[in-house]
Amino acid sequence: MSIFEKVNGFTMARAAQAMGIYPYFTPIQETTATEALIDGKWRIMVGSNNYLGLTHHPKVLDAAHRASLKYGVGSTGSRFLNGTLDLHDELEARLARFFRKESALVFTTGYQASLGALAPLLGRNDHAYLDRLDHASLVDAARLGMGEIHRYTHGDFDGLSRQLARTPADAGKLIVTDGVFSMEGSIVDLPRLVNVAKEHNASVLVDEAHALGVLGDDGAGTVSHFGLQDEVDLILATFSKSLASVGGVVAGPENVIHFLRHHARSLIFTASMPPASVAGVLAALDVLEAEPERRARLWAHTNRVTAGFRALGFDLGSTQTPVIPVVVGDPLRAGMVWRALFDDGVFTHPIVPPAVPEHSCRIRVSMSAEHTDEQVDRVLNAFERVSHMVARREPSAAAIAT
Ligand SMILES: Cc1ncc(COP(=O)(O)O)c(C=O)c1O
Repeated sequence: MSIFEKVNGFTMARAAQAMGIYPYFTPIQETTATEALIDGKWRIMVGSNNYLGLTHHPKVLDAAHRASLKYGVGSTGSRFLNGTLDLHDELEARLARFFRKESALVFTTGYQASLGALAPLLGRNDHAYLDRLDHASLVDAARLGMGEIHRYTHGDFDGLSRQLARTPADAGKLIVTDGVFSMEGSIVDLPRLVNVAKEHNASVLVDEAHALGVLGDDGAGTVSHFGLQDEVDLILATFSKSLASVGGVVAGPENVIHFLRHHARSLIFTASMPPASVAGVLAALDVLEAEPERRARLWAHTNRVTAGFRALGFDLGSTQTPVIPVVVGDPLRAGMVWRALFDDGVFTHPIVPPAVPEHSCRIRVSMSAEHTDEQVDRVLNAFERVSHMVARREPSAAAIAT
């Protein structure tokens, strides 16, 4: 059989294209923090992860511009060799303080940070425990390690406890969880998870991708929100959401970070974060700390949209954050709702299998501090106009994704 046999069997995307409901790889011609120009028409962006709206902040743009002039547009090398700038060191020291950890290590993307943290730590006799709704980057990262992987039903800490109890007492154990689940918008019950970890002498890693800038009095994420900095061993985060750039970080004890610095293949065998991105993240952290009112605005919009959607009778699953999934039904319906919103000037994302179960496809909406009240009104009105297309009695993903 030809290696390409599977290629011909893949027809779903072409079918969606033929029906005019293909939502991917849409070329954006220009952007503001809250709008995208597509096909010559400006649309409200509620399909990004630009939670604090910092992508176009003058201080962030200026820092990125100045760093490009000073260091060039790329580092042309690995962190290990010629790719470490004083800016990378500055960002690592800053993030260690921000997450209240001893040390931090910066990678070129969050995905690579995940691979670089998990693969070297999970040796042959080690065990990793992942929530079934953990982000794909964590799953891939754990698979790259040599240890045994256990998946537990979303939020089922009794089940997790049983899995841990069956593990040999002397094995290395690491529980890996999203802080905010990226398709649900729900917050992990970290106090419970940490208790289970303690009972079984397991370590804990939290991915703060969708919580950084959103949760915690200081904006540092879920761990800060619960005040569990001393109980969580490792924090992962990405710069591609609230920090408006690209890159990722793992923060933790100095000896662990030192080990990862010399063993993380996704750090060593790839070029480092470009100067403009590093400088942009440093400036974004300045704004995050200096303008807490951004977080307040983000939450005000989130609460308004969540209440508005609930008033329309939508099933929003278990969301508790600016990630607001509207469960619409099967993939075809998701494509049609997405298209109707798009034509109405609202850019969203349909989330379909394998990211979510077949009958709980959803339109993922995410809010930004930079949205105006008028934009929020327009989003709510657009959803009202498609509300007749939305299936109402589907079970939420949290209920069926096991
Ligand atoms: C929960 C979570 N972790 C990690 C990542 C990866 O981050 P990055 O975009 O920096 O590779 C993402 C991005 O989609 C994410 O949602």
